[in-house]
Amino acid sequence: MTEQLENAKPVLEVRNLTTGFQTDVGWVTAVDDVSLMIEQGRTLGLVGESGCGKSVTGYSLMRLIAPPGRISGGEVLLEGEDLLKLTERQMRQRRGGRIAMVFQEPMTSLDPLYMVKDPLLETLAIHSGLRGAPAHKEAQKLLEQVAIPGAATRLTNYPHQFSGGMRQRILIATALAGRPRVLIADEPTTALDVTVQAQILALLRALQAETGTAILLITHNLGIVAENCHHVAVMYAGRIVERASVKSLFQKPSHPYTRGLLAAIPGPQTTPRTLLPAIPGTVPSLHNLPSGCRFRNRCSMAADQCAKETPVLREVRPGHFAACHFAD
Ligand SMILES: Nc1ncnc2c1ncn2[C@@H]1O[C@H](COP(=O)(O)OP(=O)(O)OP(=O)(O)O)[C@@H](O)[C@H]1O
Ligand SMILES: [Mg+2]
Repeated sequence: MTEQLENAKPVLEVRNLTTGFQTDVGWVTAVDDVSLMIEQGRTLGLVGESGCGKSVTGYSLMRLIAPPGRISGGEVLLEGEDLLKLTERQMRQRRGGRIAMVFQEPMTSLDPLYMVKDPLLETLAIHSGLRGAPAHKEAQKLLEQVAIPGAATRLTNYPHQFSGGMRQRILIATALAGRPRVLIADEPTTALDVTVQAQILALLRALQAETGTAILLITHNLGIVAENCHHVAVMYAGRIVERASVKSLFQKPSHPYTRGLLAAIPGPQTTPRTLLPAIPGTVPSLHNLPSGCRFRNRCSMAADQCAKETPVLREVRPGHFAACHFAD
């Protein structure tokens, strides 16, 4: 997934996005000055350990951050239009339409009380103006597109009548019903077994080839990134620490954190007895971040400078950015 598509246009451009939460012990910034870009027909992987801010980034792009959370700055440009400047009413027309999200918990994001067709028909009515028989036909087509057998009779089934993998396919169908330009898929396969995982990811790739949808694929799994993404952004404690094409990142990771993540991937030589080199220490609490570089307490390369100066993303090779004083 590293080939260069010609004439690819940026569909989504995120600039300096910052989102925080008011908590008992004060304001915490969960997404800090994040900038990303996704081109038409491309997939950007967003990776990092649990709690680094991947989902909050996804929710922010959808403007689904509720109090005590708040997007405090930045721009989210969808085909040039800043979503953060829209009224809530305008945003409702974009959400589920030109920008859609498959949420992290497939069990909780399908309402058990509604038939599978209900959210599909709702999305089709709002975003395509389809109602009645044409809408039903389109809903059936969407279920067929995500390979639900017997789609016609399945429309009136309830979520509990489907397996986990099928529920995830239904969520993808619902997200696609509004013909999104950008699809955010938050750990779309984490809850599924490996074969089903591979099927769902293959389905997303096929649908993307058909529709040209730009995908933000949120995952903690670098193996999934290698197989499914064109570009990748590595997040650590709310910040992007490295951003590159998948090829460049895997060939020459520049941030010590990325190198640690890559070293922890099981390889062909790995046996059940192999000890993978885990990154020492744990992710710092957002309430108590170290000065300077947030990774320095876990970094074997850390020097005095790292405590004093916050490293910013800089281009270490063409199109390859890293936020480390010692990158290359
Ligand atoms: N409603 C909230 N109130 C306070 N803090 C929150 C809230 N939602 C998220 N956070 C904090 O924001 C940070 C980022 O959370 P987020 O859910 O984005 O992590 P993640 O990278 O998606 O993790 P995971 O891989 O486990 O899904 C965490 O420290 C989390 O505690
Ligand atoms: Mg998450």
